[in-house]
Amino acid sequence: LERFVVTTTVLDLAAGTSVLGSEDIPGCHPATCRIGLLGLGNVGSAFARLAREASSSLASRGFTPVVATALVRSVTRERSAQLSAQITDDHETFFAEPVDVIVEALGGVEPAYTLVRRALDRGIPVVTANKSLIAAHGDELARLARRRGTALRYEAACIAGVPFLGTFERRSLVARASGVTAILNGTSNYILTTMTRGGSFEAALADAQRLGYAEPDPSMDVSGADAAEKLTILIRLFGRLLVDPAAIPLDGLASVEADDIAAAAAFDGAIRPVSRAAWDGTAIRAHVGPAFLTGTHALARVAGVTNGVVIDAERGAQCYIGPGAGPDVTAATLLDDVSEIVTERRVRTPPSDAVSAATAVTRPDSAWFLRLTGTARPSDIADLLGSYGIWCTRLERRGDRVYALTCHAGQARIHTALDAVQAATGAAAAAFPALAEEAQS
Ligand SMILES: NC(=O)c1ccc[n+]([C@@H]2O[C@H](COP(=O)([O-])OP(=O)(O)OC[C@H]3O[C@@H](n4cnc5c(N)ncnc54)[C@H](OP(=O)(O)O)[C@@H]3O)[C@@H](O)[C@H]2O)c1
Repeated sequence: LERFVVTTTVLDLAAGTSVLGSEDIPGCHPATCRIGLLGLGNVGSAFARLAREASSSLASRGFTPVVATALVRSVTRERSAQLSAQITDDHETFFAEPVDVIVEALGGVEPAYTLVRRALDRGIPVVTANKSLIAAHGDELARLARRRGTALRYEAACIAGVPFLGTFERRSLVARASGVTAILNGTSNYILTTMTRGGSFEAALADAQRLGYAEPDPSMDVSGADAAEKLTILIRLFGRLLVDPAAIPLDGLASVEADDIAAAAAFDGAIRPVSRAAWDGTAIRAHVGPAFLTGTHALARVAGVTNGVVIDAERGAQCYIGPGAGPDVTAATLLDDVSEIVTERRVRTPPSDAVSAATAVTRPDSAWFLRLTGTARPSDIADLLGSYGIWCTRLERRGDRVYALTCHAGQARIHTALDAVQAATGAAAAAFPALAEEAQS
């Protein structure tokens, strides 16, 4: 009950301050928004710090955020975050504290799922940065939030620094789309961008780890699994389809060589870690992995840790580019979500759009950027590929490799053709999807 009293105070203030901020009204004080914080790691600590630092600017919106309680794994660990809040490792103690909003920054599916469910079940609004949680249980949690008349926001879970998910969630007509193409993992993009300077994948990864962009265990990033989780969030939002991230075909980054990056540049393009999906009914064509983008593609110049997404919306493609992650930008987006919740006139529950389970997930067809290692003559390679109906639009020898750009072909056909080339000439091949501006097909 106390929770709703506080929220009502905030809403009354917000309603009365459409022109004036609360600090402009004599005798009007911002209401305290008590926050329960799940996790005090990189993101949780940055959030606690920002909540303190931003309190005077948020007062003009009618509220002051105060972290009232925080849940961690180990209470004995030393913390840099200055918190007057209770810090506990006990779920019951955490939930005993009355709060207006819960901010989840634990990571992983459990115990985040159990704790978020419990919060929503009690009608407490939840804001999360956890893509694994939303990819695995987003639809179910949204339905629970709707039943309980409360909010669930996860803007920080996918391209944390670019607030586009909430905008589209509120605007279901503009959000109707037939596909998305995106760079969703800053670590992978940093690695491929760094390799343009000529270094190996291993050296670029070590560089990313030294700068703190990559985790000590970078496997989720470089395998594409992290991007696949974010892609499933986009597929649910824009395609209204549920898909298990594990069903999305992945290619890791380790197959990319420095010479491939240089060849891509010579072919007027760039190799980027691309996540893409297109849907038709309940069938999805999706893939996460390194891909060749022609230089005119909207994402070809998205470099370093920056992320980007092109949405093939029914009413025209839309492109968003910006910071993907980092504790400070993630904390800012989490706090903006909190701010929206407490200043809304009416609680905005998740939308009730019908969502269906995807019936099939297959790799999309595309053109291809090929690397063939060996001494075979380019004309022989072109003839052999042509006998499988694969026509090269560009073919060039560079040192001991031949690089080629081909016409559109399914994955099975390209691999059959490349196996035949290898059998006839000994040339070992690697194939990357090649995407032009109209990437979905
Ligand atoms: N880092 C980024 O730039 C970024 C960007 C966007 C989204 N995110 C998302 O934000 C979330 C948090 O990331 P992070 O980098 O802050 O992770 P992190 O540094 O590992 O912090 C995790 C926090 O959760 C606590 N925790 C973990 N398991 C727990 C358990 N079983 N019970 C209680 N507490 C537990 C940890 O407690 P201890 O401190 O006691 O270990 C720690 O405080 C993840 O979902 C991540 O995907 C991160």
